Amino acid sequence: MKKVLIDCDPGIDDALALALAAGSHDSLDVVGVTTVGGNVDLPLTTANALALREFLDLGDVPVTPGSAGALLRHTVRAADVHGVTGLGDVVLPAPLRSPSEGHAVDFIVDTLRAAPGEITLVAVGPLTNVALAVRREPRVVEWARDLVIMGGSYTRGNHNPAAEFNMLADPEAAAIVFDAGWTVKQLGLDVTLSAVVTMDVLDRMRPLGRLAELLVPASQSYKAVTAEGGPAIHDACAVAYVLDPSLFTCVPAVVNVETTGTYTRGMTVTDFGVGDRRANALVATSLDVKRFWDLAMGAYERLAVR
Ligand code: BDR
Ligand code: CA
Repeated sequence: MKKVLIDCDPGIDDALALALAAGSHDSLDVVGVTTVGGNVDLPLTTANALALREFLDLGDVPVTPGSAGALLRHTVRAADVHGVTGLGDVVLPAPLRSPSEGHAVDFIVDTLRAAPGEITLVAVGPLTNVALAVRREPRVVEWARDLVIMGGSYTRGNHNPAAEFNMLADPEAAAIVFDAGWTVKQLGLDVTLSAVVTMDVLDRMRPLGRLAELLVPASQSYKAVTAEGGPAIHDACAVAYVLDPSLFTCVPAVVNVETTGTYTRGMTVTDFGVGDRRANALVATSLDVKRFWDLAMGAYERLAVR
């Protein structure tokens, strides 16, 4: 059983990532969910995480709110993509239970300290909480079994030509995280843009009963679904990596996050010519899309009949 702590900003694709984790309960143990301001403001990302915990039957998994904004910069949001609530056209029942007491950064540090080498940290929002955890207790780098992120790209941006959203939303935090001494498993736009909900995928989601009430409107929220194209569910790639790294080809690299460029702030400058240097990242360069959807749909189908 693999243990994961998921730091997120739900977020439509964050929701589909949490659903993938929930449907993988036979092999994945979600030990906590922490929230960060990102796609929408922190109160909304937290409310969405709470609603998802109950809708996805995640039991007593603690949901702990964290940082509301970036370390230094003004706040960047993506409500244009995720809607004003953060979940697009999805409407979930209001959550009955409250978030945990305390702060996400403490939760991350304490949870990793309590089980050194056991828990993979999966970060699919801006890296503010993770950076603060590293600063507060640098040994989290040793204690984490792994750090898997959705963020960045070696070829392009999405929020602007240079920067992917999670990196642009807090470039200083991302720079701290890449510099912390671990080997970041990086699922960037180079692969996540191929994890696309096409018409075939949508047709596999429609019969999934109550779960379809999340999956279908989420998938139709921010881009039209066609035979060949549709929205990319970026964050689900990070959970998929934990479940089956062999879905991805990954290449060692030295990744530096641009924090000062006028037009390139948030860019992940990726050097695959590592030479004698220590690679600080294992960067995903391709995804087996068919196997990805078999894995994801298998989990969604299991969750639907639970
Ligand atoms: C990332 O940015 C957010 O809008 C998504 O939730 C995902 O984590 C994709 O660039
Ligand atoms: Ca996200």
